[in-house]
Amino acid sequence: MDERRQTTVIAVGNQKGGVGKTTTTINLAAALGALGKQSLIIDLDGNRGATRSLGVPPESYRGTYEVLLGDEDPVAVALETDAEEGIELPPGVALIPASRDLERVDGELIKVHRLTDYRDCLRRPIEKLVATGRWDYVFLDTAPNINTPTAAAYRVAEWFILTATPERLAIEGLNDAMSDIDTVRRYNNPDLKLLGVALSCVNRRTLLAKRILGWVEETFAEAGEFGDFKTRISTSVAVPEAQDSGKSVFQTEPDHKVTEEYRQLAREFLERLDIAEGMRNPKASKKGRGVLKKPRSRRKGVAHGKAA
Ligand SMILES: Nc1ncnc2c1ncn2[C@@H]1O[C@H](COP(=O)(O)OP(=O)(O)OP(=O)(O)O)[C@@H](O)[C@H]1O
Ligand SMILES: [Mg+2]
Repeated sequence: MDERRQTTVIAVGNQKGGVGKTTTTINLAAALGALGKQSLIIDLDGNRGATRSLGVPPESYRGTYEVLLGDEDPVAVALETDAEEGIELPPGVALIPASRDLERVDGELIKVHRLTDYRDCLRRPIEKLVATGRWDYVFLDTAPNINTPTAAAYRVAEWFILTATPERLAIEGLNDAMSDIDTVRRYNNPDLKLLGVALSCVNRRTLLAKRILGWVEETFAEAGEFGDFKTRISTSVAVPEAQDSGKSVFQTEPDHKVTEEYRQLAREFLERLDIAEGMRNPKASKKGRGVLKKPRSRRKGVAHGKAA
């Protein structure tokens, strides 16, 4: 019988669009797959970024919409590589696909949850997925706005990966994202913690990028929990090219520099989870003792004018 896996649920988000949420989710999951880990990606965006980026024809399968409404078993709609169906996911990666219907899920959920909070619609599905012991990680790829699927993701995740690109507007958005996390932590999900800020499209040669990266390091070092990932993903045409062909860079460009960066990001991801486990269970691991401070409920705001 296959080994049972303990599942960690990670939301990937930023309310700003086009800041690497989907590419980070897919390529990190693919990197973890190459390291022998099993990941399930749930596409929570009506724009179907993860579904399309993994080459799954949109509107062809039941998925997130039906799961959120309680009409489908999440385990039954999780897609895996299937040559007959023409689905070729990265090794170790499964997907619950999104459809355009997700954009109208709020109205439907309100009808179903007349007595309950519809923003808790991911709780039962996640419990079912975790109970199977099939996946090490469930990644929740969220939309660039705070709609119901995004709010639902923040409520069920244990960890949060905030993605950003080194542009002034994207970086200023980090402050809003952090205060959203604080609010969710205070009212709905005290377990939600920042696993890291993952920076993509980094071109270290520009002065602006250098200053922004310096600011991110400084701010998150003071935030009292895991800060930015030390691994930065460079700007590379290999990333959008892989995304356009419905694949991860591990399938299209296994030896590329950017692929190695995602591999390094995966190692850092595992190290941080190991540190956190060490804090939770000091006997099991020596790592992490005293590394993380207790998260503060309020953190320093973006110093406007300082980042650029
Ligand atoms: N390292 C990179 N180098 C070059 N292009 C990149 C890189 N990372 C991401 N991109 C491109 O940037 C665009 C936005 O990335 P992505 O789709 O991951 O962002 P997102 O935050 O998920 O967007 P949305 O909010 O619309 O869902 C895509 O076209 C993607 O291919
Ligand atoms: Mg996306």
